[in-house]
Amino acid sequence: MKQLSIIVAFAENRVIGKDNQLLWHLPADLKMFKQATSGHTIILGRKTWESLPVKPLPNRRHIVITSQKDFSFNGIEVVHSIEDAIVLCNSNEESFIVGGEQIYKQLLPFVQTLYITEVKACFDGDAFFPEINLNEWELINSEPHFADEKHKFDFTFLTYKRKS
Ligand SMILES: NC(=O)c1ccc[n+]([C@@H]2O[C@H](COP(=O)([O-])OP(=O)(O)OC[C@H]3O[C@@H](n4cnc5c(N)ncnc54)[C@H](OP(=O)(O)O)[C@@H]3O)[C@@H](O)[C@H]2O)c1
Repeated sequence: MKQLSIIVAFAENRVIGKDNQLLWHLPADLKMFKQATSGHTIILGRKTWESLPVKPLPNRRHIVITSQKDFSFNGIEVVHSIEDAIVLCNSNEESFIVGGEQIYKQLLPFVQTLYITEVKACFDGDAFFPEINLNEWELINSEPHFADEKHKFDFTFLTYKRKS
């Protein structure tokens, strides 16, 4: 069985980015993202791919979704539909959907686990995480973090599993 998870950081108003960039710098969140996804497959939209500071991210298999038939880059796999992205994921191994808005929206119905970093602030953005019906999800972990000299905002790591 495919084990699909979403990993996302969103603000109190569900903003995830603006002008194809993140709106916050939270080193502990970047560290958590690296730990969770390293050694695994990540699935991302072409715009999020463009936004990566390092392409590809080390030690991760990348599946990039685009409608552009001539799109290619050394070291990544390119697909042209959501369905093909799912087909390429290994069975019995967790694969991580890492954004952005379009990809989260389309893949949310196929996901069993949500790793959410909730940033305790509101931002003016142009990309959002879709509404989730919390009745369908069980909260299995909640880990609050507080602002400090390296983190401008409070944030909480939340893990939800889809109820069966
Ligand atoms: N806070 C977070 O955790 C987080 C994580 C990731 C991204 N982000 C933010 O999210 C924003 C980007 O999100 P976005 O929604 O604009 O872009 P996106 O989802 O990253 O990529 C959209 C692109 O994916 C391709 N695509 C989408 N659905 C497709 C389908 N069904 N078939 C074929 N191709 C498809 C298209 O590429 P083509 O145009 O090439 O056809 C489309 O333009 C940025 O601001 C980024 O910083 C935030």
